[in-house]
Amino acid sequence: MVEIKIPGGRLRELETLDIPTLVKLSQTADFEDLYVIDQVSSHENYWRDLLFRQLDQRRPDIGIRTEYELPIEVDGIVNGVLGISIKPYIFSKSGYGGIDLHDVEVNYFIGQEFRRRGVAEQALRTIIPYSFEQLKAWRVLGICLGENTASRRLLEKVGMNQGYLGISRNHVAQGRQVAEYNLTLPEFNARKNAEALVPVCEMAS
Ligand SMILES: CC(C)(COP(=O)(O)OP(=O)(O)OC[C@H]1O[C@@H](n2cnc3c(N)ncnc32)[C@H](O)[C@@H]1OP(=O)(O)O)[C@@H](O)C(=O)NCCC(=O)NCCS
Repeated sequence: MVEIKIPGGRLRELETLDIPTLVKLSQTADFEDLYVIDQVSSHENYWRDLLFRQLDQRRPDIGIRTEYELPIEVDGIVNGVLGISIKPYIFSKSGYGGIDLHDVEVNYFIGQEFRRRGVAEQALRTIIPYSFEQLKAWRVLGICLGENTASRRLLEKVGMNQGYLGISRNHVAQGRQVAEYNLTLPEFNARKNAEALVPVCEMAS
């Protein structure tokens, strides 16, 4: 069972009891545009399907769980959800061992009344190191619609680099512009080392 502390709260496993709250939180036009329309017929089905699917996502060939949908709780209240999807490389990446390397793709949704309080930022600032250090990611990815300024600014703010800007062939956003943001393990390590080297200055008295 996953439980990851964030400032003022935690990310934890999705439970059946969360569904009514998430149905309520996700009744926003941007959520419906991103996740519901074209996929399933109702918000409730969407969350039930996710709950079921993540329990069924242990890849027998590599023995790891590949889907996490983690409610973001702040002061005991669910503010939104952070999703993690592990995408193992089926074919070896040259020079690296193959299936023990993978991308971790993140997605997120915050209920309207909890936005602009830094909740998504804190969740991402926690999950990026977690992805590299615990989930052994080679690369962390965030993909959103090109027009989704909030999400793009968020990904930039937490230090991800803009990758491709292209037209989606995926059924969710088919024909629409999507923006990919990424951070690789060497980039993450380089930043961490640079931060560790920042000299500590004492205030003159
Ligand atoms: C994108 C989203 C998750 C942001 O959540 P949030 O908790 O409100 O974001 P935060 O408060 O942590 O904001 C962090 C930074 O992101 C950027 N940001 C967030 N909302 C923004 C907005 N509406 N417009 C412009 N920039 C925005 C800002 O840089 C912000 O930093 P600042 O407040 O210091 O300016 C939220 O708007 C949402 O759930 N949208 C619908 C779902 C979605 O688009 N998901 C992305 C698809 S993967």
